Amino acid sequence: MRSCIQAVAISGVMVALLNHGGMVRAQAVNEPVSDRQASMPALMPLPAHMQMGAGAYKIEPGLTVGYAHFHDARLDAGVARMLKRLQFASGVPLPRAVAGNSATGGIAVDVAGPGGAVQSLEEEEAYSLAVTQQGVRLKAATVVGALHGMETLLQLATVKDGAAVLPEVTIDDAPRFHWRGLMIDVSRHFEPVSQIERTLDGMAVVKMNVFHWHLSDDTGFRAESLAYPKLTSMGSNGDYYTQAQMREVVAYARARGIRVVPEFDMPGHIVSWLVGYPELSSSPGPFQVPETAGIHDEALDPTRESTYAFLDKLVAEMVTIFPDAYFHIGGDESEGKAWLANPKIVAFMKQKGYQKPAELQAYFSQRMQQIVEKHGRKPIGWDEILVPGLPKSVVVQSWRGADSLAAGAKQGYRGVLSAPYYLDAMKSNETHYLADPIPADTTMTAEEQKLILGGEVCMWAEHLNERTIDGRIWPRAAVMAERFWSPQSDRDVASMYRRLPAISLALERVGLTHLTGPAVMRRSISRNVDPGMLKVLTDVLQPVPFDEREENQHTDSRTPLDRLIDTVVPDPPSRFEIARDVDAVVNNTADSKEAEARLVARFIEWQHVSGPLAAEMQQNPLMNDAAVRATQLGALGALGLEALKGGGAVKQQAAQVADADNPAGLVRFTFLDAMKKLVEAAK
Ligand code: ACM
Repeated sequence: MRSCIQAVAISGVMVALLNHGGMVRAQAVNEPVSDRQASMPALMPLPAHMQMGAGAYKIEPGLTVGYAHFHDARLDAGVARMLKRLQFASGVPLPRAVAGNSATGGIAVDVAGPGGAVQSLEEEEAYSLAVTQQGVRLKAATVVGALHGMETLLQLATVKDGAAVLPEVTIDDAPRFHWRGLMIDVSRHFEPVSQIERTLDGMAVVKMNVFHWHLSDDTGFRAESLAYPKLTSMGSNGDYYTQAQMREVVAYARARGIRVVPEFDMPGHIVSWLVGYPELSSSPGPFQVPETAGIHDEALDPTRESTYAFLDKLVAEMVTIFPDAYFHIGGDESEGKAWLANPKIVAFMKQKGYQKPAELQAYFSQRMQQIVEKHGRKPIGWDEILVPGLPKSVVVQSWRGADSLAAGAKQGYRGVLSAPYYLDAMKSNETHYLADPIPADTTMTAEEQKLILGGEVCMWAEHLNERTIDGRIWPRAAVMAERFWSPQSDRDVASMYRRLPAISLALERVGLTHLTGPAVMRRSISRNVDPGMLKVLTDVLQPVPFDEREENQHTDSRTPLDRLIDTVVPDPPSRFEIARDVDAVVNNTADSKEAEARLVARFIEWQHVSGPLAAEMQQNPLMNDAAVRATQLGALGALGLEALKGGGAVKQQAAQVADADNPAGLVRFTFLDAMKKLVEAAK
């Protein structure tokens, strides 16, 4: 199941604008956005308060960094990374480390203290940043706040009058929500430590602070247990993290101001556990690691004390690796079929007076809450655990809809919203961006709103692997990171799309492969197909959503992820660019001539590649199912040119848009809405 909430339409234009005299921000204006924002630094997330000046601080080889007073090893390492990245971004050779305690000139880092020995949910993350022509002052109560400030500083770096500079600015910044997460499922497809670490680097760039590691599911148990070694030796097909690797990831995350919340999904989604430990099961074995994902009937046996003894020992071991205050116990999609098929479990339910499996799951959740709390941790689970009797200390992660989040808050439960942030739904950035954990029209009271800890982006891995995951997560997660960090009133979609390309490059500079990965995949499967022509097509294609791929391709863990769909990304720049240019032409705005020229160039290129590309794709077994898209591209190019001319043939050809909207090859065009608009205008 994958759910979503609808995008909320915005009224008026909310603009973060540059103003030399005073701070004017997130204010509705009626002027065109682009002119006013042209010189705005492409920050993401937008700071809570920002005032730009006219001058700039020049980044020069002699730049010094000094501490006003406190520093520690984590701050030293953060400053060293910042200098290295600033050098890379500016091209100016910079020192590798801090010169010493100096609060004047250069970059002065004024941090009050280290923050929590284990970063807590309530960690103080605020910072202020003042750039003048004389120097930079970064001030924060904690190292985590300073790390966030350094990311802002790096995003500010630009070129002015031929020199690398930081623009004059005063920023006072703090997050709107404490919980700004990203979940990665490493069970359906495993991700190596290197991928996890570059993800953490990307999260730090956009100030996300919770890495939720979905370490176990039916298709693989990925965390080494010394107490129960068969969990990985029999339940992982050889792909798992050693304890040393997990500790390394936790340390890597802490160095970047990120908490790591491990998830061991239970009582369902546990077939991988049962391969080595069938005695935990509610149904008879033997078991093997399944190749298909989805919902399996198997579940832990919640009626046996031996199950809890096992879980107690496992949690005891895992908390020595994961110091975070929160411990995720899953709880999703356990439908109780195996329970109802087991007479002993049915008898237990009867004895307890339970009518439904959900009540037995509530009992299980309560037992798990006790175990997790005994080991000094707070439980969090998916929203199925929210049933009568759930202890109030359990945090509910809502994946089925914002309503369940609000329902939880009304009953006094703390919650994290994930429903609108499922990346495998392949929605537009705009849709993700406008979905708010606490929308402006919320029915929650002020007290209930305080229970909403934040939001979490979810990356399920049925259809991705190490090569394709970055392009599915980035740069999209950045727009949700802004939703979780920045003020609720920051909802200017055009501004978001304008800033996104720069953030995408900033993310690439820390090592993410979201831009190169799809190109590598494209080249590697192109065979006889000209990669240049293919790129013309794939630039305007995006993947179908999770459900559509699942239904059509019947994927399992052995399915090679090597189709055209694996070389394209959701909501690529073409969607916004073509829509923008069509709007300019249709509304005859000041830059409509340039916009028209860009559209004409695109449409001609589409026509040019269409025939030969379709013929080549027909001959390639990895993409012949999508060859029709190449044919359609040419027809759509012709239609676009006709529409721009205002030609009479548009009427006859308009059916081609509907044709191109039909499913084919697991990929969809990005620009059909804009094309419809153009055709309508021509009629
Ligand atoms: C989930 O998507 N089953 C949490």
